Amino acid sequence: MAHDVATKDWSPSSWQEKEALQQPTYTDEVELEEALDHVSSLPPLVTSWEVDNLKDELARAARGERFLLQGGECAESFADCTADVITSRLKILMQMSLVLTYGLNTSVVRVGRFAGQYAKPRSSDTETRNGTTLPSYRGDIVNDAAFTEEARVPDPQRMVEACSSSALTLNLVRSLSEGGFADLHHPEYWDLDFMQHSPLAEEYHAMVDSIEDTLDFLEVVTARELDSVESVQFYTSHEALLLPYEEALSRSVPHKDGIYNLGTHLPWVGKRTNQPENAHVEYARGLENPIGLKVGPDMTPTILKRLVQTLDPDDEPGELTLITRFGSDTIGDRLPGLIEAVRDTGQSVLWICDPMHGNTEKTDDGTKTRRFDNILGELEQALDIHAAEDSHLGGVHFELTGRNVTECIGGARGIAESDLGEAYESLVDPRLNYDQSLEMAFSIVRKYRALHG
Ligand code: PEP
Ligand code: CO
Repeated sequence: MAHDVATKDWSPSSWQEKEALQQPTYTDEVELEEALDHVSSLPPLVTSWEVDNLKDELARAARGERFLLQGGECAESFADCTADVITSRLKILMQMSLVLTYGLNTSVVRVGRFAGQYAKPRSSDTETRNGTTLPSYRGDIVNDAAFTEEARVPDPQRMVEACSSSALTLNLVRSLSEGGFADLHHPEYWDLDFMQHSPLAEEYHAMVDSIEDTLDFLEVVTARELDSVESVQFYTSHEALLLPYEEALSRSVPHKDGIYNLGTHLPWVGKRTNQPENAHVEYARGLENPIGLKVGPDMTPTILKRLVQTLDPDDEPGELTLITRFGSDTIGDRLPGLIEAVRDTGQSVLWICDPMHGNTEKTDDGTKTRRFDNILGELEQALDIHAAEDSHLGGVHFELTGRNVTECIGGARGIAESDLGEAYESLVDPRLNYDQSLEMAFSIVRKYRALHG
């Protein structure tokens, strides 16, 4: 059902009447307008049909007929817009989705945190190092991470570059997922170089062999090749944080009502900007896209009810995905009451668990990290709580990379606090590495089977 923009008193720019948190201050208005005009004139990154299809898939996930795997970088960077980074991220997402599809016996909807995840909310507007204070790094779409005055000046031209880098990323993702890369007959295409040394290699390959046997069997029985397993769909998502940029990508399309954000399939509203009366919720509420909403420990049942009614007033299937991120020692306190609050509204939403953002901690030397056990602990509790509340956990949300980094502690390979310095690459949040991500997928399956048989 398309939104009736007129009766909702909404437009892609109506957010400008509200308080917009986490926005940079651009100094040159003319440059800003020029850059936004440029972004507005560029072709869209995604189509309205894809957006509508994703909404259908998310509606299915809410009913338990699909499982959502949303994952990728905390923040993409322009420098990491390379074949190696993009393909290794796709490979781990493919491997995880294979484990989940097979283990949960459910189709997996794959949504990347990529092709647009360039804007970051920060806890402070400034950063001080050795007595020098500069504006905070707000993601490559705003400024540069280097700690110099020049680098930290917000540059509107970066929005144009973000759009181009998103297009380059998406081009490779689309080509790979439509070509032979996605062919289930050749899962070895998704093996990463260091896979052979993984403690999970054997378990993974045993599963792949069994899938191959099943495919062979089906091909013999049906006497035809199963071409449909040769392509897969990857959808994109990012935090809709930098509102002028999101507005420039919000478009009407021929023969359809309403306004679509054609910069991504699934924009989400972050925890720091999710107040019902503020600009980010205002912007998101009128879009045709399905919307993600981060829900943290500070959320109250009353505010969540208001958000559900604001963001999904027509109770449209697939419209709203609640992404909970409490922390492993807080989820037990908060989630049950919020599930009940949403039930009170009579509306249906898709619940998914982000076990990353509530479990961030700092080591003694100030390194940001997360513990595998806390991440898994929050996920397992989410599964338990939804089952106990007669609700349904329809997906998961991870910050991960296909690379062999050392940013999170724990997992089968036993990364210790003292190992974090070996390959710590993230500019913002610590990500699960390849092994930890695959282990997480197997662990979800184990827990799910223990609960649901
Ligand atoms: C994120 O997803 O990178 C993020 C900043 O999350 P949250 O808004 O939940 O803190
Ligand atoms: Co993050």
